[in-house]
Amino acid sequence: MHEPMIKSKPAWSPDSWRALEPCHQFAYPDPKALEAASERLASLPPLVTSWEIEALKAQLAEAQEGKRFVLQGGDCAESLDACTPDEVTTRLKILLQMSLVLVQGTKKPVVRMGRFAGQYAKPRSSPTETREVDGKQETHESYFGDLVNGPAFTAEARAPDPDRMLRGYHHAAMTLNFVRSLCEAGFADLHHPEYWDLRFFSNAALSPEKRERFENASRELASALRFMEALGEKSVDDLSRVRFFTGHEGLNLYYESAQTRQVPRRNDYYNLTTHMPWIGERTRALDSAHVEYFRGIANPIGVKVGPKADPVELLDLIDVLNPHGEPGKMVIITRLGAEHVGKVLPRLVRVVSSAHKPVLWVCDPMHANGITTPQGVKTRSFDDILSELEETCDIHASEGHPLGGVHFELTGHDVTECVGGAGGLRAEDLHQNYTSHCDPRLNYEQSLEIAFLLARKLGG
Ligand code: PEP
Ligand code: CO
Repeated sequence: MHEPMIKSKPAWSPDSWRALEPCHQFAYPDPKALEAASERLASLPPLVTSWEIEALKAQLAEAQEGKRFVLQGGDCAESLDACTPDEVTTRLKILLQMSLVLVQGTKKPVVRMGRFAGQYAKPRSSPTETREVDGKQETHESYFGDLVNGPAFTAEARAPDPDRMLRGYHHAAMTLNFVRSLCEAGFADLHHPEYWDLRFFSNAALSPEKRERFENASRELASALRFMEALGEKSVDDLSRVRFFTGHEGLNLYYESAQTRQVPRRNDYYNLTTHMPWIGERTRALDSAHVEYFRGIANPIGVKVGPKADPVELLDLIDVLNPHGEPGKMVIITRLGAEHVGKVLPRLVRVVSSAHKPVLWVCDPMHANGITTPQGVKTRSFDDILSELEETCDIHASEGHPLGGVHFELTGHDVTECVGGAGGLRAEDLHQNYTSHCDPRLNYEQSLEIAFLLARKLGG
C-alpha cells in the first residue's frame, strides 16, 4: 500500500506559495510595481466561471471512464500580437477539424481545449541568453513569454514587467470573448462543417486525398447528426453544440494567484484565468511553490511528466494535488519521447492504476522529441511524434484502458517548423516560414495528418 509522503501541510491560501522559494526563473525588479499590478489584476472580473470549470471536470471524469477523448492544442508560446480575428479563427478551425476527424475515428465526443487565451508564459532551459551583437557577446535575461518580458534581445525588452500581466489578462479576455461569440453564432456548428472549412481549405497546402477524406468525414458526421435528431435523440445537442475550453501552463504564479478566489455559493477557490491550468515538467517538484499553489485550487489540473519521473513521486504528487481522489481532477500529460516511452510509461501506468488513483492519461508527443539540425535550428520530427503517440496508445490499451487524450503544439498556418509528414518537409526547408517564438509546431497539414493517423489507431 502506498503511504503518502506528505501527510499534512500548513494552511493554504492563494498566496501561501509566496513563502517558498519561487521556481520560475525570473524576478520582477520593482516590488511596488508588482504589488500594484497584482492588486489591479485581482480586482478585475474573472475570465472563466466556476460553472464552466466544473462542467469541464465532469467531462474529464467521463473521459477517465473512456467515454470521451480530449484534444488539446495551440501555440507553444502565444503572443499578444497574435490576438487578431484571423489568428483566433484559424486556431479554432484546426482544432475543430481535428476533433471532427477524432469523433469519427473514436466514436466518442471530443473535449476541445485550446492551449490559448493565456499561454503567454514560458519556462526556459536557462535564465539568461547570450548572443553576439556587433561582434561582442551580450547576455540578457531569457524571453519568458509575453506575460513576463519581450522577445527583442535588449536589456529593456527582457526586463520582467508586471504590467504585462494586465496586458496578458486583457488579451486573454479579448480572445475568449471572440471564441465565445463565434461558438454562439454557430461558427462551430457541427451540422454545418462546410462553414468552417471551405475557404480555409482553398488556402492551405492540403493534398487532394486528405481533402477528400476530410470532406467525407464531415459529410458523414453531419448526416449522422441529422439522422439521430430525426429519431429524437436528446444527447445530440451535446454532440453538436461545440464548446471550447482553455488551458495554459500556470507558470507565472503572480498572475495565476491574483485571479484565484472563492465564488458565491461555493466553498472552493478557483483559478478564474482558465479552465485547466497545468504544471510544467520543470516546476512540479513536490516541495515547489507551484505545487503549493496548485494544491489549493478546485480546477482540473494538468501535470506534465517527463522521462525521468519516478512513479512513487508521481503518486505523492497525485496525493497532494487530489487528496480526495476526485474524478476529473487530475490529468497526467506524459511527454516521454519516442526513445523512452516504451520503458517509462508502463511503470508509471501500473503504479498509478494499482494505487487506484483516478487520473486521465494524456499524451504530449512534442516536448521530449526536440532535435536541433546541423544548422542549429530547433525542430521535431513528425515520425518521432507519431511513434511516441502510437506506442503510448498501445501501452495504455495493453494496460486495460484507452489513451484519454492528446496535447499538441500546432498551428493552422502553413509554417515550416517540424520536419517530415506526408508533405516531406526537410531540414533545409525549415527557414521558409519558421515563425514560432519558442518550440516548433505541427503545421496545418501535419496536424490534420496526425489526427487521421490517430483516429485510425484509436478506431481499431
Ligand atoms: C510546454 O508545454 O510548452 C512545456 C514547456 O512543456 P514541458 O513542461 O512538458 O516541458
Ligand atoms: Co513548448
